[in-house]
Amino acid sequence: MKIGILGPGNIAEKMAYTINHMEDAQCYAIASRDLERAKAFAEKFGIPKAYGSYEELAKDPDVELIYIAVPHSHHYMYMKMCLEHGKPVLCEKAFTANAAQAKEILELSKEKDVFVGEAIWTRYMPSRKIIDDAIAAGKIGEVNFVTANLGYNIQHVRRLTDPELAGGALLDVGIYPLSFIAMILGDEVASITSSCVKTETGVDAQNAVILTYKNGKMAIAHSGMLGPTEQFGIVYGSKGYLVAENINNVDRVCIYDNDRKLVEAIDMPEQITGFEDEVRASMKAIREGKIECEQMPHSEILRMMEQMDSLREAWGIRYPFE
Ligand SMILES: NC(=O)c1ccc[n+]([C@@H]2O[C@H](COP(=O)([O-])OP(=O)(O)OC[C@H]3O[C@@H](n4cnc5c(N)ncnc54)[C@H](OP(=O)(O)O)[C@@H]3O)[C@@H](O)[C@H]2O)c1
Repeated sequence: MKIGILGPGNIAEKMAYTINHMEDAQCYAIASRDLERAKAFAEKFGIPKAYGSYEELAKDPDVELIYIAVPHSHHYMYMKMCLEHGKPVLCEKAFTANAAQAKEILELSKEKDVFVGEAIWTRYMPSRKIIDDAIAAGKIGEVNFVTANLGYNIQHVRRLTDPELAGGALLDVGIYPLSFIAMILGDEVASITSSCVKTETGVDAQNAVILTYKNGKMAIAHSGMLGPTEQFGIVYGSKGYLVAENINNVDRVCIYDNDRKLVEAIDMPEQITGFEDEVRASMKAIREGKIECEQMPHSEILRMMEQMDSLREAWGIRYPFE
């Protein structure tokens, strides 16, 4: 499948490298707002086509899937443009800046019958099934509580502190702990309480979220841009607990018993970078004529955006374009 990349930034490099190491995908085109940047990126990754505007990429009849890797604030407008040109899209997380934008995009995807997926890589990885299987096998007993966190010292990155670019820890890194919890506990959330501390620019620098579920289970997520965390996702059961080491790309899953003894350590399969799973899932959905991936269906994309909207509302964070 011929894939085009829209926005030659930091994460686009990782995707280009990944696609170049996949057998049934080709990194076919790159588009930047600046032709020289596109050409430099194309040369670095051996990409046949370089475009100096995003629209030229969307109009290329040979492109079969467009991966969008621009700041959150601009996902909506470029997804819309791609869909209007009939192009399937895999868009980086957070899917959009807010739920209203997400709803509009998902409706457009349905109307045009064109695939749209969210590139939240952890939803597509084999680690998800490995964790589900360990829990289903009763290795930790009945699940009661989940905690997950993600943090880096990335406060110097302008994209993250600029409200115009839909900055803040929540949409950038906070989505991963919330997603980890959702993958374990599902969507029957009864109530959420939370708090955050803001940057000078008025977006969240770090945050903590407590979720209570209708079935009595609970979870705590925290994320931030002020410094590194150990990035563990921990699932607590009635007879032990499971630790997913690095929820951002699980390295290892460890099972502990009632006495806090390590009883099993499961290594994850080899990967190119981990981005290949979301690309494979998108290609499969497109080939089967579907408009969404089963690993991250449209309903769940929207639900996560609504959850993050409700957190920002509680914190009084509204982007200038909202
Ligand atoms: N999955 C992951 O592990 C992961 C990790 C990091 C980031 N991400 C996601 O990937 C996306 C991009 O992040 P990044 O760190 O790669 O960003 P970045 O390095 O800042 O690159 C963003 C690119 O977007 C383009 N762009 C278009 N409009 C822009 C605007 N108004 N301001 C700034 N840049 C604009 C720029 O390309 P041109 O100007 O050349 O067109 C730029 O190269 C975000 O959604 C982020 O959440 C995902």
